[in-house]
Amino acid sequence: MKTYKNDFDILKTKVNDQPLTYLDSGATSQKPRQVIEALADYYEHDNANIHRGIYTLSQRATDHYEAARDKVQHFIHAADRRSIIFTRSTTESLNWLAQSYGPANLKAGDEILLTYMEHHSNIVPWQVLAQRVGAKLKYVALDDQGFLDLDDLKRQLSDKTKLVTLTQLSNVLGVKTPVKEVVKAAHAVGAKVILDGAQGAPHMPVDVTDLDVDFYAFSGHKMMGPTGIGVLYGRLELLDQMPPAQYGGEMIERVGLYESTYTKLPERFEAGTPNIAGAIGLGAAVDYLQSVGMETVEAHEAELMAYAMDKLQAIDGLTIYGPKDSKQHHAVIAFNLAGVHPHDVATILDQSGVEVRAGHHCAQPLMDYLGVTATVRASFYLYNDLADIDRLVDALKVAQEYFAYE
Ligand SMILES: Cc1ncc(COP(=O)(O)O)c(C=O)c1O
Repeated sequence: MKTYKNDFDILKTKVNDQPLTYLDSGATSQKPRQVIEALADYYEHDNANIHRGIYTLSQRATDHYEAARDKVQHFIHAADRRSIIFTRSTTESLNWLAQSYGPANLKAGDEILLTYMEHHSNIVPWQVLAQRVGAKLKYVALDDQGFLDLDDLKRQLSDKTKLVTLTQLSNVLGVKTPVKEVVKAAHAVGAKVILDGAQGAPHMPVDVTDLDVDFYAFSGHKMMGPTGIGVLYGRLELLDQMPPAQYGGEMIERVGLYESTYTKLPERFEAGTPNIAGAIGLGAAVDYLQSVGMETVEAHEAELMAYAMDKLQAIDGLTIYGPKDSKQHHAVIAFNLAGVHPHDVATILDQSGVEVRAGHHCAQPLMDYLGVTATVRASFYLYNDLADIDRLVDALKVAQEYFAYE
């Protein structure tokens, strides 16, 4: 297995006197040197505010910022660069849709279809929208392995459904959702589809044109980019009809004392000074991922998953959530050790330098659905290798022994 660790200096760090085994990329990824250098390079050589300066430095900053937009456009295969709006995160992208697209297009009695595996950031904004306009939220069931139940989705779709919003890859179950089938069924009743790509964009090739989704939201920090930068992709004609999500500088055409007109896409959605460095850093992350190739990223993680699934399933008393077939399970593995609280597992693992997450993973409705309050979650990325999995398994055995003798 090829190693990519050398591009990530942080992976040489020691934690509790142990080599760092970072298995929490589902929460945030590490950044390769190329991204950190792009950020430093921008601040050291090109830092200026964008769009409004006619001087050279501002032009340079603007060029880098807009080049990042082009990179993101090509990364997700959007047809038009004006469809790429820079936001703060997936959370902000989804909130903008709920606050801006929502009230302009939904009314009392309309329905929004979600799934039981959504992250809180793809639930709460819709609850608030539903309360605001009098719409109803409905949830699509999962089967006993955690896959989306397409029949249930089709049963619940009707001409009342205005939005279907779902994740591309579950941050707990590791399942992919059948996006194309969902889009086809949703479009047949006139509903729009929002895809939460927070866990999708980092781990698989994405083609929003081929998927035919109406909106796509993702975060830079989970795909090797900086924190504080995210993306909202929207079909051009839908974005064009949407009222701005925020108001202020940069997004206007002409400001009068009592009213103003707004500028064209994408600036209309980028009020104020944006996260210029963040966008440039995200552009560098896209460059890095593309230099490796998203198919290679996916294949590397599939190898890790196959190895981890075998090793974890061999541990007595360990329950894995989601499909047991490693080919159907991607990027994250959530599990519990019988008789040991997930927080205790994570604490013991940390003593061995193995950093995993424990808790509800911002998916409390899914935890309720699974009948658990919390799980441990190990999540992988390109910079992990088989030795990381071995260290996870060894540390889990230590945790088991420790609690057996309590
Ligand atoms: C599936 C999914 N959606 C949305 C989010 C929210 O992402 P962010 O916190 O970057 O806005 C996450 C983050 O964990 C996630 O896993």
